[in-house]
Amino acid sequence: MARRIDLDLGERGYPIHLGAGLLADAGRLIGERLAAGPCLLVSDATVAAHHGAACAAGLRAAGFAPTTATFPAGETSKTVATAVELWQACAAAGIGRDGGIVACGGGVTGDLAGFIAATWMRGVAFAQIPTTLLAMVDSAVGGKTGVNLPAGKNLIGAFHQPICVIADPLVLATLPPREYRAGLAEVLKYGVIGDPAFLTWQEAHAAALAAGEPGAVERAVAESCATKARYVAADEREDGVRAHLNYGHTFGHALEAEGGYAIWLHGEAIGIGMRMAVDLARRLGVLTDPTLAARQDALLAAYRLPMTHPVTDPDTAAVRLAGRCRQDKKARAGRVRFILPRRAGEVMMVTDPPTEAVVAAFRSALGGPR
Ligand code: NAD
Ligand code: GLY
Repeated sequence: MARRIDLDLGERGYPIHLGAGLLADAGRLIGERLAAGPCLLVSDATVAAHHGAACAAGLRAAGFAPTTATFPAGETSKTVATAVELWQACAAAGIGRDGGIVACGGGVTGDLAGFIAATWMRGVAFAQIPTTLLAMVDSAVGGKTGVNLPAGKNLIGAFHQPICVIADPLVLATLPPREYRAGLAEVLKYGVIGDPAFLTWQEAHAAALAAGEPGAVERAVAESCATKARYVAADEREDGVRAHLNYGHTFGHALEAEGGYAIWLHGEAIGIGMRMAVDLARRLGVLTDPTLAARQDALLAAYRLPMTHPVTDPDTAAVRLAGRCRQDKKARAGRVRFILPRRAGEVMMVTDPPTEAVVAAFRSALGGPR
């Protein structure tokens, strides 16, 4: 049975549809929000090979005239150069002000296609059809779009909300297992920052989630989307509480950058970062539930996610990593912000904690070389 979660943003609000088999129905669901006509269907080449034909057929059945645009899979395609190719594809496909863009893929596709939609003809409608677990529970919802520069990730972008999100867990069957597990780190994040009952539920269903059991996956995506939708509705442009979604991210971004974006998938780095965040919370005396560290570790292990970042020189690496945090784009005016847990369901922002504590927190989850 399909579920619907509404993201309440007034006239920019939209439904998140979730259910097995919805890919075939995507054209009809998009047609509820956008008049049928020309649209650009954007996917990376891998997703296009697996799911492009089904997606295009659904759009055609609903009266749309899709033109498919693809780019090579991977973060290295999230560039201005790919954006230029997609703008040109919009021109060739005759996408006008009343046309639309459909992103069918992971977070790279959604961020790129959303940015094209935000900028083409000063903004056209776009729909998100996420095909990774990470995109279903995080990137497809909330309207952050953009591309990378050599100077850093997501430096160019816009807030542009989709007209709908259509998540079909059946498409995850073709997702590489490592990518799936990385998405589970974000699911765990919602369990820590959101409703504590969701953390308890994950503990009871960890094996089912790790195995990708459809019922468990669908429930996890629904709970995660509902949590993200609440944060985005409360603070669309991240002036306040939306920053809580960055739990584990200040540490995780430093780990990703340290590894040249080649060692970790984003979710893997965030998982290790969440361990470091609990450690920092304990050191600063803000953690009120000491059992949280063990609960979080148990779920990371059940999801078969990495627990430590490999280094040869833990002491100097911890100092170097703490220095990297200052370059994190979440730092405002040179200040470094950490989202730290107090207990399940309650997190807080801490700005510029003592450097020694940050170094020690990094040190707490560094391991020997892999
Ligand atoms: P991705 O889009 O690169 O997808 C990961 C890999 O999985 C790719 O190789 C892709 O081809 C493949 N793939 C995707 N779906 C598949 C399927 N169903 N079957 C087979 N293969 C499939 O990466 P991602 O992890 O989905 O997203 C990461 C991106 O998301 C980053 O660029 C990050 O900055 C961004 N992001 C954005 C937000 C946001 O709020 N906008 C939030 C989190 C992350
Ligand atoms: N991924 C964090 C956000 O959307 O705000």
